[in-house]
Amino acid sequence: MGKEIILCVDDEAMVVDALRLELMQGLSSDCIIETAQSGDEALEIVRDSLSQGDEIALVISDQRMPGMTGEILLQRLNLIVPKALKILLTGYTDIEAVQFAINHAGLYRYIQKPWNREDLLLTVRGALDKYRTQNQLEESTRKIIKMNEELEKTVEKRTRQLSEAIKELEAFSYTVSHDLKSPVRTIDTYAKFILEDYEDSLNADVVNMLRNIRVVCGGIFDMIDKLLQYAVTTKAEPEFSLVSMEDLFKQTFSEIIMSEKGRDVEFVLDSPLCEVKGDPILLKQVVYNLLANAVKFTRNREKARIHIKCTSVPEGICFTVEDNGVGFNMEYAHKIFGLFQRMHSRDKFEGSGIGLATVKRIIEKHGGTVSITSQEGQGTQVSFILPHHP
Ligand SMILES: Nc1ncnc2c1ncn2[C@@H]1O[C@H](COP(=O)(O)OP(=O)(O)OP(=O)(O)O)[C@@H](O)[C@H]1O
Ligand SMILES: [Mg+2]
Repeated sequence: MGKEIILCVDDEAMVVDALRLELMQGLSSDCIIETAQSGDEALEIVRDSLSQGDEIALVISDQRMPGMTGEILLQRLNLIVPKALKILLTGYTDIEAVQFAINHAGLYRYIQKPWNREDLLLTVRGALDKYRTQNQLEESTRKIIKMNEELEKTVEKRTRQLSEAIKELEAFSYTVSHDLKSPVRTIDTYAKFILEDYEDSLNADVVNMLRNIRVVCGGIFDMIDKLLQYAVTTKAEPEFSLVSMEDLFKQTFSEIIMSEKGRDVEFVLDSPLCEVKGDPILLKQVVYNLLANAVKFTRNREKARIHIKCTSVPEGICFTVEDNGVGFNMEYAHKIFGLFQRMHSRDKFEGSGIGLATVKRIIEKHGGTVSITSQEGQGTQVSFILPHHP
């Protein structure tokens, strides 16, 4: 970095020397003090200094000089070194010159001649402080802008990487689901044919094993279908229309309960439930997954109760599915909306841990949020909020 220069200009050699001496004695800073006896000489010094990489921090100029006056010099310097602070040394009657310098040279201060030493030093120190603070501020701003640019580039890069990874993952899960289905179907079909054609001639253990193979294949089909559904909902962009949540909950519940023979499930719905703007097919999936869970995890209750609530909250409309089922320990539930996360073993409650992940994806696509609270042995509440749409 170059040197900081204070330039003193006065046509009288004695005055300019006295000024220089005052500054040298009074300032502890390591500025270089240059002097000139005319506007032209001052301009030349400034050009030379700049070409050597030095900076002009402050110019103190006499106002009354033959040839170029102080205010004109400062005006011209303002074009060459706009950041330098400018002080005019004036007589009592030079108010117009001061006004001109304020308007055209961004004058920092004027000091009347003969100057008071303390006043002069105080003003010069103030000017140097201001100059340095300005410089630091500019430097910090430059750094912040640079950091910001780098940050934006990093964010852009990461976002690109992330969306590529998501696309790959989607393609992967879709392919896996499809490519897995056909070999499993072949196994299931062989087991089915063997049972149909040779059951009578096989011993009971083999028949049992074949039946088990079919049960396991059924489980894999179910999981693949759900994974496919998850992949599809991940890709789907919601198509918004008005959806009656009351109808959706009621219809879906009767579909689910139809296959639950012998169960006593009380279904309570806080009528009338709000209508919302959403994608009817995707919201049906949400309601289905939540009600299916509520029905499944109340299986051990003699009298199951499922309660649908709807409240208005600042973020939108909140729907809650509450059940009095087995519940679970919330301590281990932090990832429950992630894929394949389950709180119960498969031999007690079947399932693949895809339902809630799908719910979360769909609700987020609607701009909403989901949450769950549960108490072991008491029941579970799952809520989703759909934002208001105009
Ligand atoms: N209403 C509920 N009561 C108790 N536990 C629940 C309830 N809903 C979800 N859970 C817990 O969260 C886990 C994840 O739920 P999710 O619906 O994603 O999977 P799943 O029901 O096991 O399988 P899937 O829905 O894919 O058939 C469940 O396995 C269960 O442990
Ligand atoms: Mg489920």
